[in-house]
This record gives sequence, structure tokens and C-alpha cells, in this order.
Amino acid sequence: MKVLIVGGGGREHAIAWKLAQSQKVDKIYCTPGNAGIASIAECIEVAVDDFAALLDFVKYEWIDLTIVGPEDPLSKGIVDIFEKEGRRILGPTKAAARLESSKIFSKDFMRRHRIPTADYKVFSSYLHAEDHVRMMGAPIVIKADGLAAGKGVFVSPTVEDAIDALRLIMKERAFGEAGDHVVVEQCLEGEEASFMVFTDGDTIVPMGSSQDHKRIFDGDKGPNTGGMGAYSPAPIITPEFEKRIVDTIMRPVIDGLKAEGMKYKGILYAGLMIKDNTPTVLEFNCRLGDPETQPVLSRLSTDLLDICLAITDGRLGELNIEWKPESAVCVVLASKGYPGSYEKGTIIKGLDEANMIDGATVFHAGTAFNNNDIVTSGGRVLGVTATGADIRAARDLAYKAVEKISFDGMQYRKDIAYRALR
Ligand code: AMP
Ligand code: GLY
Repeated sequence: MKVLIVGGGGREHAIAWKLAQSQKVDKIYCTPGNAGIASIAECIEVAVDDFAALLDFVKYEWIDLTIVGPEDPLSKGIVDIFEKEGRRILGPTKAAARLESSKIFSKDFMRRHRIPTADYKVFSSYLHAEDHVRMMGAPIVIKADGLAAGKGVFVSPTVEDAIDALRLIMKERAFGEAGDHVVVEQCLEGEEASFMVFTDGDTIVPMGSSQDHKRIFDGDKGPNTGGMGAYSPAPIITPEFEKRIVDTIMRPVIDGLKAEGMKYKGILYAGLMIKDNTPTVLEFNCRLGDPETQPVLSRLSTDLLDICLAITDGRLGELNIEWKPESAVCVVLASKGYPGSYEKGTIIKGLDEANMIDGATVFHAGTAFNNNDIVTSGGRVLGVTATGADIRAARDLAYKAVEKISFDGMQYRKDIAYRALR
């Protein structure tokens, strides 16, 4: 079979790497891909939001399945367009993807279906929002309604910080129309975890649990990033707890969407805050997490193509999905300056040496070719991932592989998976 992967980050490299292990996959294409993906897939230059061109490519090359990595094409309706043309594609429709692309839709949906989430109020006027923030006091959370590349959420320790955030979103319009409306939300405390499931809209199959490290510096300090590392499984999510998350969150979401005429197919990701053994939803994503996918797919035994086809064809219940007992850890190597501005084009050394370590895999994120060199081309550059008998062994191996790699200004966290090792 021929598969097209839409996207070009660490998550898409992990998807391509896992698919390449399938006997049934003859050829993988990826758009735009990156220098690592290019070693297992043919990278093509079609813009990820040019759906007409993508559809032409899929028809012309007789692609059997398209897998969408990032949220942007999903929120713009790529699935609706492909399905209308009878093409197999993995991901939710535009309407269902609003669980991620509109915080207001997501919060109101949770309220309608009694899914545990922080108390909130929605505002379209700056003055009313400011009044509300002053009345509620801090800490408080301000969220732009629409997609803002992970930058539209402000956990504000003081009222002044919250008002600065409101100004940035609603007056300076830092995120354009994503900031037409804001959600002002109660600030939750606890430990965060990522919980992803495969679903065909009826059957729900949990993936291995994981935890991400959002802040740039060790000890969870500094500004938020796309994710500086992840590990799987997360010890905080025991099998009993997993069942509770499915029963109180995932099942009501999938059934609720179906009842409202938006049957959900693909991957559903819940960002959770856990306190006193109770999970509360911070956000939904309608795709795989990045970097959570790198360790999670490293632990998957079952053929990923079989899973994708079972989802798109609505027979996920017939499949027995298995996971390896090992643990996996991913350490992200980032460019100097990230998550602020950073330079591109720096030569990366030591990739082959790192990949040669048994049990370690270097997933590329922001990388490109420059003649015969592989160079940096993004903020998050690589996700060095290793498996081991437990989290400690996986972490030690991942850092051993990290030591082989170098590029000017390379920065990474030295404490990935610390919560699992306390
Ligand atoms: P979101 O995009 O909604 O997940 O927000 C990004 C990050 O902001 C989350 O991973 C949390 O660290 C934090 N966050 C979001 N909502 C809340 C909340 N209600 N209370 C505390 N932290 C939050
Ligand atoms: N790692 C968080 C995300 O993918 O949204």
C-alpha cells in the first residue's frame, strides 16, 4: 500500500518510522517532511494547506491512505474534502476538530456533556473580560479562542499578568481572529499528563500513557514550548486510572460527538490535570502529540497501518492492539533562542553515531539538507528517543545518544522523566 503523511516534524518522522516497519507498506510519501523522514519516505513539496493539490497528488499516485499529523489542515477541513472524493484519510472532520480549534466549542461541549473541566466564562468584549478578571482575582488562566500555535494560553499568577494577556489577545490582536473571543478560566493545580486514544467513533483504544515537558528549562522553569521531551508510560496513570479516564472523559466525548452528528475518527488527545486521583481536562487535541508520539509509537507492537485502516474503515473493535512492556524516553534538542527566535542552517554532527546505539532512534523535527550536510531548520530540531526495561534505563540510553550529537547553540533539558523517577 502507498501512504501519504501530511506534516514534517518529529511526530511525522515517528509515524513514518513505524509505518516503514509494516510488511504491507510499499511506499511512503511525506509533505513537506524533513531530512530524517527523507531516509524512509519520498518528501514532496506540496503545501499542507493546498488541499486541491494534495488531492490531485493522492489520485495521481494512487495513494491508499493519508495520515494527517498537525492540527491546522484538520481544522481547515482536509478530511471532509478527501472523504467527499472517496479517499481514505485518518483524522476527524472540520466540525469535530473544533474540539481543538475552538476553545469555546470545546469548553461548551464539555459543559453540555458533563465532562470534568475548569470553570470558565467566554468574553467578546475586552472591558467585560477585564472586569471579570478583577472580580475573580489571580491566579487565573486566559485563553485565545482559536488556534495560536500553542501560544494562546496564559496561566497568569497576578491580575496584572491576566490583564496584559487580555490586552495582547484582544487589543493588540497578537493572534489575529483567534483572539476575537477569549476564555477566562479557573486555574487548576496538580500534575499534567497526556492521554491519547485511537477511535473509529465507536471503539476506543487507549495508547500508552505519556507525560510531556512543556517548559524550556530544567525544573519546569522558563517559557512554554511545543514540548522539550516526553516519556511513556506515565506511572501516574495506572490501569485503574486509565479506565476512569476512558469512562469519565473519552467515552462521553466520543458518544457526545456522535449524538451531535459529528462522529469522530482518528486520534483524540486529552491534556489532563490530575489532582487527588481525579482527572480534569485542560484541552483536547485532535491529533497525536509532539513529542509524546515519539516514545508512545516506540512502544507499539501492532502494525500501525492495520490500526489506521481499522479506524478509517470503522472496524477498530476487531483489532487487538498490543504494546511492548518497555518504557521509552524522548529528549528534544532545540536551537539556541527557542522558543523565541532562532537561527537556521547550523550543521548537525553525530547523527549516525547516535542512531548506531542499540535501542536509540533519532527522530528529526526541524532539519533540512544543505548539500551533503544535515542542518537545523526549526526550533525543535531532533527528538532523541530510546527504549529500555524501565524509564531509568530508557532515559540513560537516550542521554547517551544525545552526547553523540552536537550543533552550535544546541540546548536541551537534562531532567526529562524526572517525575517518573522520584
Ligand atoms: P492548553 O493549550 O489549554 O493545554 O494550555 C497549555 C498549557 O497551559 C497546559 O498544558 C497547562 O500547562 C496550562 N493550562 C491550561 N489551562 C489551565 C488551567 N485551567 N489551569 C492551569 N493550567 C492550565
Ligand atoms: N505536546 C503537546 C502537543 O502536542 O500539543
